[in-house]
Amino acid sequence: MEIIICSSESQVGEVGAAKVAQIARKVGPAVVLGVATGGSPLATYRVLAERVRAGNLDLSQASAFALDEYVGLPIDHPQSYFDTIRRTVTEPLGLDPNRVHVPDGSLDRLESAGDRYEDLIRQAGGVDIQILGIGSNGHIGFNEPTSSLNSRTRHKTLTDGTRKDNARFFSSLDEVPTGCVTQGLGTIMDARHSVLVATGEAKARAIAAIVEGPIMAMWPGSILQMHPDITVVVDEPAASKLIQADYYKHVYADRPDWQKLELL
Ligand code: GLP
Repeated sequence: MEIIICSSESQVGEVGAAKVAQIARKVGPAVVLGVATGGSPLATYRVLAERVRAGNLDLSQASAFALDEYVGLPIDHPQSYFDTIRRTVTEPLGLDPNRVHVPDGSLDRLESAGDRYEDLIRQAGGVDIQILGIGSNGHIGFNEPTSSLNSRTRHKTLTDGTRKDNARFFSSLDEVPTGCVTQGLGTIMDARHSVLVATGEAKARAIAAIVEGPIMAMWPGSILQMHPDITVVVDEPAASKLIQADYYKHVYADRPDWQKLELL
């Protein structure tokens, strides 16, 4: 794992975006992005959008796959992940909406939603760069603790903790859906490159567990320790429980030129 500890939340966005842009350029114009919702990647999306506006990055031929979707919210509901991705990713990054995919969370087609989404990802040739956030309980996508470490896209039930964490986006806790369709941990692990961003003290426990703890289904993000190309970008508060923080800082400061990122 490459661990980059940044001095501020905005620097997390700059470094996250630089990493994504670097890989996107290497892959080429038809790059396939994996995109997360939630607050964590918003700064990264903002910097990527700046790069697109500045002509430094062209994503007009890119495709994107969202990690997850709530069950039972109409797609035009402002908190559906379909609409969230449109607002925060598709439009600002100049993606073609026909190539942006979100799992189908409609109640009547739930049984086949996972397989249909896996087929779409396969047809696109797999995800080149997966952008990830992390839940305070260590979930990635909506793979709650005890998710199978090899799971594929499927219906899941949200924990009360996740519903409470996400209640800030709704007018009341009762409005937060109880179910979701999420890429599985095995699906997420298939992405060729991954960039996980996290900020704030509330994520410190999860970051320490997934980076330095044992690989275990109770901390689903810990499976990323098995990923061949994963960069974890965090601010100081999110890094505050990392035992080896000084080592990660030292490695980053002394990295060779060929590993350096081109910041805006
Ligand atoms: C959400 C999403 C995840 C996200 C996580 C953290 O519910 N399903 O993809 O990474 O929880 O959210 P936030 O970044 O808002 O803390």
